[in-house]
Amino acid sequence: MLRGGLLLVIAACVATPATATSSPRSNYIQELLVAIESRYSNNVFEDANLIVPDLIRKYRYPVEVHHVTTSDGYILEMHRIPYGRDANNAPNLKRPVIFVMHGVLCSSADFVLMGPGSGLGYLLAEEGFDVWMGNARGNYYSRKHVTLNPDAILNTAFWQFSYDEIGNIDVPSMIDYVLQVTGEQKLHYIGHSQGTTAFFVMASMRPAYNNKIISMHALAPVAYMAHNENLLLQAIAPFSNDIESIASLVGVGEFLPHTTVMTWAGEALCRNEVVFQPICSNILFLIGGWDESQHNATMMPVILGHTPAGSSVKQFAHYGQGIAQKGFRRYDHGSILANLAKYGTATPPSYDLSKISAPVFLHYSKSDPLAVVADVDRLFSEIGSKILSRFLVPLSSFSHIDFMYGISAKELVYDRVINIIKSM
Ligand SMILES: *[C@@H]1O[C@H](CO)[C@@H](O)[C@H](O)[C@H]1NC(C)=O
Repeated sequence: MLRGGLLLVIAACVATPATATSSPRSNYIQELLVAIESRYSNNVFEDANLIVPDLIRKYRYPVEVHHVTTSDGYILEMHRIPYGRDANNAPNLKRPVIFVMHGVLCSSADFVLMGPGSGLGYLLAEEGFDVWMGNARGNYYSRKHVTLNPDAILNTAFWQFSYDEIGNIDVPSMIDYVLQVTGEQKLHYIGHSQGTTAFFVMASMRPAYNNKIISMHALAPVAYMAHNENLLLQAIAPFSNDIESIASLVGVGEFLPHTTVMTWAGEALCRNEVVFQPICSNILFLIGGWDESQHNATMMPVILGHTPAGSSVKQFAHYGQGIAQKGFRRYDHGSILANLAKYGTATPPSYDLSKISAPVFLHYSKSDPLAVVADVDRLFSEIGSKILSRFLVPLSSFSHIDFMYGISAKELVYDRVINIIKSM
């Protein structure tokens, strides 16, 4: 399973035309591509290779591309499906706005790659919503900055961010932009995994934003990670500050970019660093567990054609710190002096979840190794919102990435989310 998956990662990433790498394809890769192409339909293979706006266009949905520049110069790309194709398809009508935010190593592709009838972005548009899908700084679609170069050799300035910046800066910037363009006062928010972490950061550190949220739906909510069962994250947790400093030393700030996964992982990390060994052998499982019964093998090339979509090393270091410290705290800069300079305290302050006041709905599952029930319970008990509910997915084997790619995600999760949103 793992080996087959890794081969597909190579193939899917090398085959992506929009992201040609400088190294020539080996005969081996060519042969692999031919083998895969003959096994999967042209349609699946094409979907693996199209960028998100083209993918949406292919299925004849309306799509808009928007760019948002943050206060610190990152240029974020958003993808909007303003109305439906088969239903609710009259343009120029006012519709409730839903902002959707992906998880770590993922992108807006998560909400469309499973196709019409399955992808959350399409379902929401058909239900009459104006759908805006964000992309966090550093992923494939938001790998731009007004001055910093993400590809700078031995200079990782572009990559100096974790989910703290994504929550404090990216998400509020995108929300403000969406409200301005649509003329609305408030919107609904749906996040998956890190898309929930970023919301909790924003709503606790910039509480005024709670007033811009009609309802927040956290799919696989990640804040506390004390009970994390992801072997890889557990392995890096004790080294979370070292990982970042080693990576900085070798001039690496980016982690699992869309293009050169295997080249990068092989050359930069997998040589001798003991700390990185678990990463090298577990690339596919970084994003979290899945349930075999929820896994549509036919769609594997499409998933791997879009995921991983890139992140910073610091995002992983920050999650590693959360596991090691058993808290939900701001980024630990690794020295008392650095933390004092940044926060005025020797250790990073905790995110104050009691400041969250927007209506929050947690959708979680029993087998999720990244959003473990005990951690979700703690999160639930500390969120300050008066309107606060949690829903355990009624399939005990349902897991972390099944919230995005699971065969029954619509029936088990999305239908309930849509019902709640319509009732608000
Ligand atoms: C799996 O994906 C293929 C290709 O999109 C689709 O035709 C099929 O119906 C899916 N299977 C299930 C069980 O959803």
